[in-house]
Amino acid sequence: MKKRYFIHTFGCQMNEHDSARMGESLLRAGWVPAEAAENADLVLLNTCAIREKAEDKLYSALGRYRMVKAQRGARIGVAGCVAQQEKDGLLERAPYVDFVLGPDQIARVAELAEQGGVETGWVPSEEYVFPQADPETARGKATAFVTAMKGCDNVCSFCVVPHTRGREVSRPYGEIVREVAALAAVGVREVTLIGQNVNSYLGGCSFAQLIRRVAAVPDLRRIRFTTSHPMDLSPELVDCFREVDKLMPHFHLPVQHGADTVLERMRRRYTVAQYEDRVAGLLAACPEVALTSDIICGFPGETEEEHARTLALLRRVRYDKLYSFVFSERPHTAAALRLSRERTAGQRSPEWLEVPRLVATRRLEEVQRLQQERTLERHRSRIGGQVEVLVESARTKPGVPGERFGRSRENWTVHFAGASAVGDLVRVRVERAGLVALVGAEVAVTDATRHPAPPGPRTRLAVVSA
Ligand code: SAH
Ligand code: SF4
Ligand code: F3S
Repeated sequence: MKKRYFIHTFGCQMNEHDSARMGESLLRAGWVPAEAAENADLVLLNTCAIREKAEDKLYSALGRYRMVKAQRGARIGVAGCVAQQEKDGLLERAPYVDFVLGPDQIARVAELAEQGGVETGWVPSEEYVFPQADPETARGKATAFVTAMKGCDNVCSFCVVPHTRGREVSRPYGEIVREVAALAAVGVREVTLIGQNVNSYLGGCSFAQLIRRVAAVPDLRRIRFTTSHPMDLSPELVDCFREVDKLMPHFHLPVQHGADTVLERMRRRYTVAQYEDRVAGLLAACPEVALTSDIICGFPGETEEEHARTLALLRRVRYDKLYSFVFSERPHTAAALRLSRERTAGQRSPEWLEVPRLVATRRLEEVQRLQQERTLERHRSRIGGQVEVLVESARTKPGVPGERFGRSRENWTVHFAGASAVGDLVRVRVERAGLVALVGAEVAVTDATRHPAPPGPRTRLAVVSA
């Protein structure tokens, strides 16, 4: 009997994408997916180190999977950002882990699963080969992620990513376009180009040129990308929003804070005014662009006055949606080094004093409350109107109108009743709207998929995300 693997994924799209590639490597090496961790011979955790909570999730999951190992001798592997951050240290903390695999080493997953060991070295940029997606695993899906670049060359003082993902390497555009074409050929209609700092892409052409090349793939209908640094938002990219129909009007442009003083301590390389200028330029070129952003509350030294500037920024820039977090001190970051120096020096500089937990969470709640009003307002403004949706899932129960799920052009989640197939572009009349989704009914299929999914249950991939 073939051996079975199960992958538990934490963190961002890069990790989800890496998990899919590792699953494919394991399939090629003769493994098959397991339905659940309990009947797997290999449990692989693909981990995230962005905040302490993310790391805690790994250790609590490891505790559970340790039982599976005890019961049926499953092997346990840890990949991803915590693996890169902790390296062999992970084996000290969790000696029952059989192997540790850094993000540059994912192609070797099958080998390590057999042999065990720790592989967290970096491959030199010139030698790095991006793992190719197997388009077959995307058959029956409407959307897919495509890697454009990896790593990050920025030095944001709070962020562990440059340490866990290494230097920026862009994937040659020819490879990207070929992968997109292969995905489109099996029915994928929307791709999201991903990278930690995707708009700094330089893989033989600029990011704006890459978007135009991808847009030229005939059967593709929609393009998105994530994540971008505000300083890499070029006028050329702004032109794409105006001129490339397939580029969806959604831009995730993390601002992190509304006070220049904090942005400077964060080493974000822009002022609030520069950020707002860029946003204004983008909205002037393409008024329907939906903006989303990330905010950190309780960065060291954050005063009430600085926090008030974040709230003021949120009143000026009308974000659709916000991902907001309490600052978490991460190993190896500039902020952590500075804080540890401050702690040992005895004499504390006020601008690097830790913000008490309760104060930080209260500020976070203020940010979230303000944003919730905005999000609701934006969503409700569409009630009675119609939105274009790409159908991502279609469940049909006998006797009831089928439940459909997809995303609008702005990337809003839309649930609706209808008869469309996965991959169809449909018009949906919006009847209700809440914080997380719009709810409505299908009006018409405007652009049907040429790859309707075969009836019957979809094959499940042994990848779960949290
Ligand atoms: N590459 C993206 C962000 C990657 S991490 C960018 O440059 O914007 C996703 C988000 O997590 C960040 O935007 C930030 O808001 C948040 N984040 C990162 N490190 C953090 C930390 N140490 N504490 C709290 N939030 C953090
Ligand atoms: Fe982290 Fe900054 Fe790089 Fe984003 S740009 S991944 S926040 S270092
Ligand atoms: Fe987390 Fe690593 Fe992504 S730290 S957010 S999984 S790049």
